[in-house]
Amino acid sequence: MNQPINRRRFITTTALAGAAFAGAPVLKAQSKLNGSTIKVAVIGCGGRGSGALNNFIEACKTLGVNAEIVALADAFEDRVSALAKKHGVAKELQFIGYEAYKKALATDCEYVIMATPPGFRPVHFAAAVEAGKHCFIEKPVAVDPVGARDVIAAGEVAKKKGLGVVAGTQRRHQKDYLENKAKIDAGAIGEIRGGVVQWNGRIPWIKKRQDGWSDTEYITRNWLNFTELSGDHIVEQHVHNIDVAIWFLGRLPVSALGFGGRARRVTGNQFDFFSVDLDFGDDVHIHSQCRQLAGAYGRVGEMFTGTEGSCFGGGKMNGKEVSIAEIILESEHGMVQEHIDLITSVRAGKPRNEAKQIAESTLVAIMSRMSSYTGQLIRWVDVTQNEKSPFYNYKCQVDPLAFEKGEIILPAEVPPVPGKV
Ligand SMILES: NC(=O)c1ccc[n+]([C@@H]2O[C@H](COP(=O)([O-])OP(=O)(O)OC[C@H]3O[C@@H](n4cnc5c(N)ncnc54)[C@H](O)[C@@H]3O)[C@@H](O)[C@H]2O)c1
Repeated sequence: MNQPINRRRFITTTALAGAAFAGAPVLKAQSKLNGSTIKVAVIGCGGRGSGALNNFIEACKTLGVNAEIVALADAFEDRVSALAKKHGVAKELQFIGYEAYKKALATDCEYVIMATPPGFRPVHFAAAVEAGKHCFIEKPVAVDPVGARDVIAAGEVAKKKGLGVVAGTQRRHQKDYLENKAKIDAGAIGEIRGGVVQWNGRIPWIKKRQDGWSDTEYITRNWLNFTELSGDHIVEQHVHNIDVAIWFLGRLPVSALGFGGRARRVTGNQFDFFSVDLDFGDDVHIHSQCRQLAGAYGRVGEMFTGTEGSCFGGGKMNGKEVSIAEIILESEHGMVQEHIDLITSVRAGKPRNEAKQIAESTLVAIMSRMSSYTGQLIRWVDVTQNEKSPFYNYKCQVDPLAFEKGEIILPAEVPPVPGKV
């Protein structure tokens, strides 16, 4: 449980943030995204990298701007070349390997889409900010408390540099959710007193190990089933719903107490199911529940009970009539709107910065996982302030920088077991 923090990574990013706060010269954003073309790089050319690139291109089209792909980076050649073929991207703009992100960031890209497994996000995001790029960062943004705090630190540097940062929590850019949030803030259901957030579905996919794959290739290809790269599905997937709870309540939980287990999974080291009590203080509790199991009842969403009504995240609301300002969005798709919001905010000279917001939601999901893995109650202060807590400096066993050196030790494919016999 108590693996040592990688001091080098921690010092790099905190020193970066510290320099910005100390008033040291800061490399400003290289671009204000106000030309007729936006040059984009993609780091992580899998399903979402490809999807987010399409969403970015559509956002540019909506705004009447050209999109130019100047770099595609991925750990593996097959993933880069498949995306390159789709968009006709030249060979010299394709970068392969665990250090490909550095080459992509060294191009004249202005806007970077980061869609690798989340274990790599803190390192890649800090490097993108250092290089002065506007960032679209897929959720979640870390797998351990150290990584989440690194993202918050890099987000502060981004602010100083005038960089835009938007996260792939698309519900925050969708009309249905935005309207319900505005109605709740206007008192439509009174004060939220409790609720449940859920992602109960099946395992999205498993990659079986193939002959000739090294441990490094295996864990990277099968990342969705290893906590070290995914954060476990409570972080990787359920962070969407946890994020909605934090957003709608307007505050962070004070503690998490969870449990979970594994019944069916045949690969990796994750749990199949989690049940977590998120204590938001003032006797307000949100039940966070998630499960990846085939053949079981599926439900994904959020429900909140207030003193004067109730509502589903982006759905039905039973409560008082309230008037809210009309919400006008350029796109009906949250995944397109998030790029529009990033681009237009930078162009207007008021860059959106969602780094802290998504890092905090990610950290709540991480603390929920750690509570379930260990059986312990974990307080928010234990992962943000209390340096004596064993959870504060907790780092997953495989360090993202070790991939760049090719030094991976594959974790055992068994889940953690909390408690004592
Ligand atoms: N917003 C959403 O609704 C949504 C939906 C799906 C996925 N996601 C998120 O997007 C991210 C990617 O998920 P995905 O479904 O595209 O997975 P994927 O496996 O399809 O793609 C990940 C890609 O990253 C590459 N990669 C791995 N390590 C790398 C490294 N160190 N450097 C460069 N490339 C590397 C892989 O080879 C792969 O091509 C995850 O964080 C996931 O949670 C978000």
